[in-house]
Amino acid sequence: MRLLRRLPGQLAVVGLFVSAALGLAFAQSGFEPRIGQEGKDVVWVPTAQMLVDKMLDMAKAAPQDYVIDLGSGDGRTVITAAKRGIKAHGIEYNPDMVELAKRNAVKEGVADKATFVQADIFESDFSQATVLTLFLLTDLNLRLRPIILKMRPGTRVVSNSFTMGDWIPEQTAYLSQGCSSFCRAHLWIVPASVDGIWKMGTGELTLEQKYQTFTGKLVADNVVAPITDGRINGERVTFTAANVQYTGRVNGNSIEGGSKTLEGAEAAWKATRGG
Ligand SMILES: C[S@@+](CC[C@H](N)C(=O)[O-])C[C@H]1O[C@@H](n2cnc3c(N)ncnc32)[C@H](O)[C@@H]1O
Repeated sequence: MRLLRRLPGQLAVVGLFVSAALGLAFAQSGFEPRIGQEGKDVVWVPTAQMLVDKMLDMAKAAPQDYVIDLGSGDGRTVITAAKRGIKAHGIEYNPDMVELAKRNAVKEGVADKATFVQADIFESDFSQATVLTLFLLTDLNLRLRPIILKMRPGTRVVSNSFTMGDWIPEQTAYLSQGCSSFCRAHLWIVPASVDGIWKMGTGELTLEQKYQTFTGKLVADNVVAPITDGRINGERVTFTAANVQYTGRVNGNSIEGGSKTLEGAEAAWKATRGG
């Protein structure tokens, strides 16, 4: 009897614990992000899902890629990439957003491919990414730019709305449907470094690089030919000198490729960095 009498009180205490625990769990899992909420360096605004898809399309993201979203918010870009069979990772400063993104990845059944970490993007190593996605601000992009330019040539970088200053994008797309704000995306491809002096056969190639373009001169047999149409697409270079078209692949301190004259005569060429 005494036991029975005590039971209601005990039940009430147990009930209190249970509801407190449930309340806590709800408070954790029920975290509702608010558009415009404070972030460390930029507030949270989600990218429209159609633009997320567009950004990954522009980057030609495929299963062999590794996508990293800098400031990953609720995880939508990482999760969308994972649903395409791509390993993807989000770096996000706000711990509530990180937990939300992890729960979203579980809900979408892609927690094996979509991972998230709570960290400051400015103190993180994202050099392994082959596709980098951003929805930050131009001044934050500019802080990241020197780090991005040291990434593996060919790395694709896609930014929602904000630019990289005077680094001109390869492509810009605008969505007029399925997106009401922040509907523009820009794509850049990290260029190989070609700036400097290269020995090319008995001649010398001097290149002045500005991001994915370059100018300069080819000096051979005491003839100076200016470089025109110098472009770098990841590791691939193309340029024209003395009416000869050159294409090549940069591999650190050497470039190897082929050339073609106006008359169609083809030849192989090689250049090595250093005068
Ligand atoms: C504009 S939102 C973009 C969210 C997501 N990438 C998207 O496109 O939907 C920017 C995100 O960056 C996060 N953030 C701001 N400063 C950060 C920093 N220093 N390190 C990591 N995340 C940061 C914010 O908390 C926010 O979730």
